[in-house]
Amino acid sequence: MTPLDYEFLRKLLRERSGLDLSSDKQYLVESRLIPLARRHGLGGIPELVQKIKSGSEALTAEAVEAMTTNETFFFRDKIPFDHLKEAVLPALVQARAARRALRIWCAASSTGQEPYSIAMCLKEASHLFAGWRTEIVATDLSQEVLEKSKAGIYSQFEVQRGLPIQLLVKYFTQNGELWQLKSEIRGMVQHRQLNLLQDFSHLGTFDVIFCRNVLIYFDQATKANIFERIGRMLEPDGVLALGAAESVVGITSAFKPYPERRGLYRPNGAPAVRLGVSTAMPQALKAVASGR
Ligand SMILES: C[S@@+](CC[C@H](N)C(=O)[O-])C[C@H]1O[C@@H](n2cnc3c(N)ncnc32)[C@H](O)[C@@H]1O
Repeated sequence: MTPLDYEFLRKLLRERSGLDLSSDKQYLVESRLIPLARRHGLGGIPELVQKIKSGSEALTAEAVEAMTTNETFFFRDKIPFDHLKEAVLPALVQARAARRALRIWCAASSTGQEPYSIAMCLKEASHLFAGWRTEIVATDLSQEVLEKSKAGIYSQFEVQRGLPIQLLVKYFTQNGELWQLKSEIRGMVQHRQLNLLQDFSHLGTFDVIFCRNVLIYFDQATKANIFERIGRMLEPDGVLALGAAESVVGITSAFKPYPERRGLYRPNGAPAVRLGVSTAMPQALKAVASGR
């Protein structure tokens, strides 16, 4: 790949997906895009770049998707899901008692392990939300990962990463080497293709937003812009969950961390909501929180 081809691809990826590649990531681009070029009968990256420059929109989208990192697993980092069960859902059961509606957005949902982990948390507490309208919206830039997510079919390796055995037995059906997530969980998640660089205000407002392990790939200005737009979509007493290696510190003043809830943030300026295990927490949800 010539330096000019690399610069062209860097710029294209930054504009299309936010991916901010440093000047020394040629090996990464080659490892992801040479197989794509071959699948399209092209000799290599120079030919791929030529075809993209000639205006092949489908190939451009495929190249952008091929460069995304889709690494994910069930209950990734565990702590955000413990917070969800122990603190966030109990607080929302009380705060939304009149409205009886709950909306959760998983903003870079990859192959579905994250939104389905959230769905299983909600399902385990479903008696508390009886008669409520609960929505989980899963979005991702990549159509390919969304298709896998919708299918809800995972390998032995994938279900062994993070998923408690009780939940595997309860919510999956084994089919040879594969595990199919039951429709009662799949049906709780709506899937939509969405690029975080573009306007997403049409999704409406949410009580909880998971936006984890995606902004790490973006430059500071893009992160700040996305945080500000996400901030406008979160209810004043809503909660934003970020990945273990992510933070808002030094990037945006749109959010403030919850001091005792690592990885959780609230809209800045909104009244502080106490996110603790409420003494009024229903017994059933306490059981969910403690994993019994
Ligand atoms: C590393 S995965 C994280 C998945 C999950 N949130 C987790 O933490 O396990 C990052 C996901 O972000 C998606 N992504 C990358 N750029 C995006 C963009 N501009 N808009 C929306 N999604 C994007 C990728 O397709 C990928 O599925």
